[in-house]
Amino acid sequence: MLLYSDYSLKPLNTFNIDAKSEIYFEVSDKQDIDSFIRKRKYFEMPRLIIGNGSNILFTKDYKGVVLKNSLKGIDIQVDADDYVLVRVASGESFDEFAFTCARKRYCGIENLSGIPGSVGGAVVQNIGAYGQEIKNLVEEVEYYDFSTFEFNKIKGEDCKFGYRDSIFKHELSENVLITSVTFRLSKKFEPMLTYGHLDEAVKDIPVLTPMLLRKAILSIRDSKIPDYKQFGNAGSFFKNPELTKAAAKKITEQFPEVKTFELENGNVKIPAGQLIDLCGFKDDNDEKVGVAENNALIVFNRGNAKGKDVLAFAKKIEKTVKDKFGVKLEPEVVIC
Ligand code: EPU
Repeated sequence: MLLYSDYSLKPLNTFNIDAKSEIYFEVSDKQDIDSFIRKRKYFEMPRLIIGNGSNILFTKDYKGVVLKNSLKGIDIQVDADDYVLVRVASGESFDEFAFTCARKRYCGIENLSGIPGSVGGAVVQNIGAYGQEIKNLVEEVEYYDFSTFEFNKIKGEDCKFGYRDSIFKHELSENVLITSVTFRLSKKFEPMLTYGHLDEAVKDIPVLTPMLLRKAILSIRDSKIPDYKQFGNAGSFFKNPELTKAAAKKITEQFPEVKTFELENGNVKIPAGQLIDLCGFKDDNDEKVGVAENNALIVFNRGNAKGKDVLAFAKKIEKTVKDKFGVKLEPEVVIC
């Protein structure tokens, strides 16, 4: 257990924003949860749980307790002929786990390679990339409920997963600390190559393995997303908007270059990155904040931005896109 006051969050968020937390409490094992509850003064303060801080924008110092989840441990629950159930503590790095899976040929997770969050955070926002979403891999989630002082379990199918959404952003957001996630992974490698140009990217690989697919994904990601250690960012800043067919048609009639992706529910998804791109933000000369050259959906800190500079820039994007296309962009990152 670590406990500090007036603690810098700069190394703990991938936007590299220099904000402070009034109290910082790091939970490394289940006893630390107990110690936290016993410190009534801190327990009663507002609380923000963070994992790897890869989807959060601090716009001011946090008044309350930042509870950093550092729960660690991976264990195999079931090792069957064709699948494994692996329980992973929520403070583990999601990508280190994805790497371990690729190495052991536990399949299904490889398209999610390179996502820089914790396992707990990955579930909260149902991370997705290259045609896969974590919701397809979650067997069960264990969490601690601060309102009942009990550990509980919920099945993956009951987590109300949606696009970058889950029950942990709604009913189970306030008083809950996810402690572990059990993944169901296949031992049979069935590569998912239908997203974008993924099949092109691997076409010259004679024998595709989970590790080689992982490498292909990492190289696509590297070409689009700046390294947050150099240029702080939180991946996509906005969600891709979902519109009705009629609303999307209005846009494509006026802007035929705008791509559309049909969804199973009959609606259409439009790439926010392309809308931002078409508004000219890649050429914006703001000194502190920019959008990535290879994907305008990535808003990044040029070095010395404060959280409020990033937020002001994001608001400018929102307004420009709304004025030009009539589309309201919604942030994907948590703004704090
Ligand atoms: N596009 C442009 N210009 C741009 C950016 C994109 O024209 O500046 C076009 C691309 O040509 C492509 C389309 O927009 O046809 C979609 O772009 P891309 O495949 O790069 O995906 P994205 O919509 O930018 C989404 C996820 C990413 C995920 C990728 C790959 C969201 C909000 N973002 O990005 O997730 O890695 O697909 O699956 O859904 C994240 O959530 O932080 C994240 C990085």
